[in-house]
Amino acid sequence: MSEKTSSKKGLSATLLLAIAIIATAVVVGLVAYYYGQQAATKPKANLLVIYHWWTSGGEKAAIDALVKVYQQKYPDVGVVQSPVAGGAGYVMKAVMKSMVAAGEAPDAFQMHLGYEMKPYIDAGFLEPIDDLWRSEGWEQVFPPVIRDMANWNGHYYAVPVNIHRANVLWYNKKILDLYGIDPSTLKTWDGFFAACEKLKAAGITYPIAMGGIGKWEIAHAIEQIFLSQGVDFYQDLINGKLTDPNDPRLVNAFTIMKRYMSYVNPDYASLTWDQAVAKVIRGEAAFTIMGDWANGEFYVAGKVFGVDYGAMPSPGTEGIYMIVSDAFELPKGAMHPDNAIKWLKLVGSREGQDTFNPIKGSIPARIDADISKYGPYQRQAIQDFKNARYMAPSIVHGSGAPEKFASAFNDIASKFASDKDIAAACKAIIDAINTAKSDYTKTWHLTG
Ligand code: GAL
Repeated sequence: MSEKTSSKKGLSATLLLAIAIIATAVVVGLVAYYYGQQAATKPKANLLVIYHWWTSGGEKAAIDALVKVYQQKYPDVGVVQSPVAGGAGYVMKAVMKSMVAAGEAPDAFQMHLGYEMKPYIDAGFLEPIDDLWRSEGWEQVFPPVIRDMANWNGHYYAVPVNIHRANVLWYNKKILDLYGIDPSTLKTWDGFFAACEKLKAAGITYPIAMGGIGKWEIAHAIEQIFLSQGVDFYQDLINGKLTDPNDPRLVNAFTIMKRYMSYVNPDYASLTWDQAVAKVIRGEAAFTIMGDWANGEFYVAGKVFGVDYGAMPSPGTEGIYMIVSDAFELPKGAMHPDNAIKWLKLVGSREGQDTFNPIKGSIPARIDADISKYGPYQRQAIQDFKNARYMAPSIVHGSGAPEKFASAFNDIASKFASDKDIAAACKAIIDAINTAKSDYTKTWHLTG
């Protein structure tokens, strides 16, 4: 083959290749244009996508009732509920963080007021909703403690749907009556443990029911024991001001928890919070310390307050209201912002709160609720909230302390429940405070 012929051949091959590339590019371009046009003209589904962790019997009944009101008001909007099972959001919180960071935020998601909001706000993932607070008149109807917890850097970023009380001791009234235990003797830890002893002697080997599958259930009990060591102590704890692992109040708290554990069902680590409540409902245990979402479980089981069950502040915390407040917010880049705003309006409205809370077990965050819609436990709780000498934000339920501390606390609690090493737990608490030191940006002043 002559040189000329081969270079000619090479030239035509190059030409063919070039034509092929150009042709492909044109086709790809046309296809992209076609689909682009299609996407631009394709109508967007009219949805509201919300995430929450309300999957127990009482929780589900409450959120379903609220969603139903939304659907009645906006029948053209399809509501997609995405519940992520796991009490206190111990599963959902991580899911949501990664979704939001990936730019896949839903239209609204369940979140606690307080520190839990902060990482989202710091990263610029939430829209301030000051205008909504103004137009809905929420500053006039939410109490100062709640306003303070919903506000970061001078802006409102969420609207609360409720106020739960964390420091509640639930009891099976029939068991107490049967063994002659007067609830007024349960106000102190000594009185409470004397009752546990009595029940144990009568054959109820594990009078206290506790869960622990998500660790937070154990931390929840310890948190209430912390609270019983005095408001000053609790305030120092949430302000990151405790420094001494030998602080007698800290040591005392874990000493109480050690004793508490001796009356707890040994299978606690595999149970959810509502399975623990179910033990009390069935009469297998007499007591459980849990937030007043437990009330919703008694309701769905058809139990009557004052007949089948009762509730009182957990030992040593009378006059103190430990606050847990569920809220929703407006994520930046939400797919259906108009529907999301309608949702927030309903969440913060009197109608919304008086639909959700009577079933949920909580009290409304609004001060103008229709009390006739609430059961006897909640009417008492509304009074207790009004008369509280102190209000304290829960650490375990996202409000009181930085997330770094709160998650370390869950680990400390679950380790302690099994090894019962008081000195190690006290040291771990101080270490966890020190590790989270720079995250304590809020100073709580606990008052009524
Ligand atoms: C809390 C939440 C409550 C309740 C509970 C158990 O953190 O605020 O609404 O759902 O968890 O899941």
